[in-house]
Amino acid sequence: MSANDVVLAATGASGSVYALRLAQILLASGKQLHLVVSNAARQVMSRELDAEFPANDAAAAEWISMIHRTLTGPIAKVWGFSPPLVPDHKHSSGSLRVYGTSDYSAGIASGSFRTSGMVICPCSMGTMSAIAGGASSNLIQRAADVHLKERRPLVLMPRETPLSLIQLENMTRLSRAGATIMPSMPGFYHKPAQIADLVDFVVARMLDHLQVEHHLVERWGEEHPEI
Ligand SMILES: Cc1cc2nc3c(=O)[nH]c(=O)nc-3n(C[C@H](O)[C@H](O)[C@H](O)COP(=O)(O)O)c2cc1C
Repeated sequence: MSANDVVLAATGASGSVYALRLAQILLASGKQLHLVVSNAARQVMSRELDAEFPANDAAAAEWISMIHRTLTGPIAKVWGFSPPLVPDHKHSSGSLRVYGTSDYSAGIASGSFRTSGMVICPCSMGTMSAIAGGASSNLIQRAADVHLKERRPLVLMPRETPLSLIQLENMTRLSRAGATIMPSMPGFYHKPAQIADLVDFVVARMLDHLQVEHHLVERWGEEHPEI
């Protein structure tokens, strides 16, 4: 397993900022990031962040620049994302490969391509249902299926409220199959002052799960060291 290769899929649930923030930190941490963005994710991001993902075949540099631009843009500023908490954010040490959702010849569509795990962030109820049913009808679903069968970490960050029985059962099914269900549910015990604090709370838990070092939020028990 290559500890440096991570798959990140963004689907059409609300919370595109989580995907951008996670991508930014993973790249800054030197990860080889394999990114797939669904068509619905493109619509949601344009609605939520007034930003557009580049074309799938655009250069990696264009994608990285879009991520940093959006996270320092007007909406992100209002949300408190500036200055970025990641040092040297313009010089991400990791590398990025982007795939179209129908690119089944991509390495990540096969179990023989080694990764340290896959994150679907945010994860729509539609994608959740398709993975729970083993549909594999696009590259995101196929790569998720591969991570389950290879028993590699698969973390899904669903967002919906309220949840129907079908959605709850899909989550239970995926959890039984080995996936981790990590909803975008920030806590408030760290006394967030701005939206960026809420986003980073969730992204930090995701990074912990991927065993990626970060200093996004103070850890419980570390904020008041014992005397
Ligand atoms: C602005 C916007 C917000 C959405 N928010 C959610 C959401 O929070 N959760 C969800 O499951 N679907 C949400 N949807 C619907 C999904 O995008 C839709 O079901 C889509 O088919 C998911 O496709 P995908 O899984 O291939 O990305 C939203 C759609 C739009 C346009």
